[in-house]
Amino acid sequence: MHVNQLKKLDQTVLSWLDTVHENVLKRLNQHIQIDMKASPRDLVTNVDRETEQFYVSEIRRLNPHAKILGEEGFGDAVTNLTGQVWFVDPIDGTMNFVKQHAEFATMLALYEDGKPVMAWIMDVMNHDIIHGGPDYGVFHNGAPLAKITDEGLSEGLLIVSGARLLYEQYGLPELAKAALGYRVYGSAGISYLHVLTGRAIGYVSKMRPWDYAAGVLLGQALGFKVGKIDDQPINMLSSGTVLVATQQAYRDIMTIERDL
Ligand code: IPD
Ligand code: CA
Ligand code: CA
Repeated sequence: MHVNQLKKLDQTVLSWLDTVHENVLKRLNQHIQIDMKASPRDLVTNVDRETEQFYVSEIRRLNPHAKILGEEGFGDAVTNLTGQVWFVDPIDGTMNFVKQHAEFATMLALYEDGKPVMAWIMDVMNHDIIHGGPDYGVFHNGAPLAKITDEGLSEGLLIVSGARLLYEQYGLPELAKAALGYRVYGSAGISYLHVLTGRAIGYVSKMRPWDYAAGVLLGQALGFKVGKIDDQPINMLSSGTVLVATQQAYRDIMTIERDL
């Protein structure tokens, strides 16, 4: 896509995010319908559903041929990455949304023939947005993001999945011990915001494509190293334990993983 088209797309999606910010804030003063999915820790609300429906109708207006992989199932059954594929996580950190009314995000990512194009992550309550792509640059609320400082694992904060740490999976306890400190936020989007703005050196969690599509795209565009913790390539259509980290922290983490 030409840079002018990317700019137009960015402005369009940023206007969707304005709408989502306003709608979600309004919804917080109303009754929220909360349903359980796989377990009491896996929730979905009317706001998750409404937000995904909004994105799906806007994406269809933009390009009726685009495929949409959305968490709540209002998109398509996507089986391959040909053409335009949108990854949509309408509310990321639904538990935080329900219990805290804070610390949740909304995420969109566009890939074309499997290649990253553009992504957006918004901390909804703070209207704090990271947006951009490899051929466009990455911006924090419209201002270009500074190049990252390449700190190692022992020099910074590592953000981890609370559940994977608790159940001692994927070497997360070893990684958390080796880091200068560790944090658990309960939202992939909020975690990526911390990493991409230099407030943490990496984030690792087992996630599904809509959880990591935007973070991986923006991380790569900013010079972070991105991959699966088992050193296998990321398959954008399946879940995986995905790591986005500074180059040095990534190497440090892989050394620990290999010695487990
Ligand atoms: C979840 C959050 C959480 C991560 C889970 C995700 P959801 O997203 O990002 O931090 O650990 O893997 O499923 O379900 O609230 O959109
Ligand atoms: Ca979600
Ligand atoms: Ca999510």
